[in-house]
Amino acid sequence: MPLHRKHLLDLDDFSRDEITQVLDTAESMSEILDRPISRVPTLRGKTIVNIFFEASTRTRVSFELAGKYLSADVINVQASGSSVQKGESLVDTLRTIQALGADMVVMRHSKSGAPYLAVEELECSVINAGDGWHAHPSQALLDLFTVRRKLGDLEGKKLVIVGDIIHSRVARSNIWGFTRMGARVVLCGPATLLPQGFEKMSDANGLVSIELDADKAIDGADMVMALRIQKERMEGGLLPDLREYSALYGVNRKRLANAKPAVIVMHPGPMNQGVEISPEVAYGPNSIIEEQVASGLAIRMSIFYLLAGGR
Ligand code: CP
Repeated sequence: MPLHRKHLLDLDDFSRDEITQVLDTAESMSEILDRPISRVPTLRGKTIVNIFFEASTRTRVSFELAGKYLSADVINVQASGSSVQKGESLVDTLRTIQALGADMVVMRHSKSGAPYLAVEELECSVINAGDGWHAHPSQALLDLFTVRRKLGDLEGKKLVIVGDIIHSRVARSNIWGFTRMGARVVLCGPATLLPQGFEKMSDANGLVSIELDADKAIDGADMVMALRIQKERMEGGLLPDLREYSALYGVNRKRLANAKPAVIVMHPGPMNQGVEISPEVAYGPNSIIEEQVASGLAIRMSIFYLLAGGR
């Protein structure tokens, strides 16, 4: 069944049924990935252009592999090495890609809203692979996929996101996704990294709360997600000392003891080990961080397949 959407920009307007459809389709894609030969002809003859104006490992590689496993022609464009370095504007870059016949554009950009500009300029599908602080919908979908596999139905589950919330597009998209599936989301971090008003982000009132004390936030949690301290987006004074941050908010074994015994630990990556998460937790028995990365492939195959019409 198609998704009845041309673009994937964020999860703010996704219904529970649409999210479920993406996750269920990703389960089917996982079955394809388990076969000895994973390639299927679904997108044969289609061209996908991955335009990454900001650094990425997980997202770029998994979008590229997802396109290849579906038999699309995949082209990668990075800011360095492209005509952006010669001063070409974003709009002109997009028009060039349109003229060369892209069927889908996957775009990462440091400026919030850049993929929305791309939708105005392009006739093809646009997939937001992360725009500034704003949104990272494919990451949120792969997080939902991984959590659902571990916890089942998310209704009423306590999901805690700890860290640099203010700069996090992952947190923003996950708040929409987790609450749309009925989970309670607790946002935790120092007040300078917690935007005011985030508790009102969900349209399901009362599902998002803010807790400044990490031990209280993690108490009884079903899932704890540590977020990277985004030093590159940090403006002066927001966080005076990383050691103090780690002591108060780092996800470590002692702090995790407050959560449910079967708590799962997530991190969207890349990690600053020893800052927002300790190595013994990142690689410990409760961690599903590597499964998150692996889920990215099935989810991105699902996104391509559904946006292409689900046939
Ligand atoms: N989670 C994530 O977006 O990772 P990359 O920056 O490596 O793509």
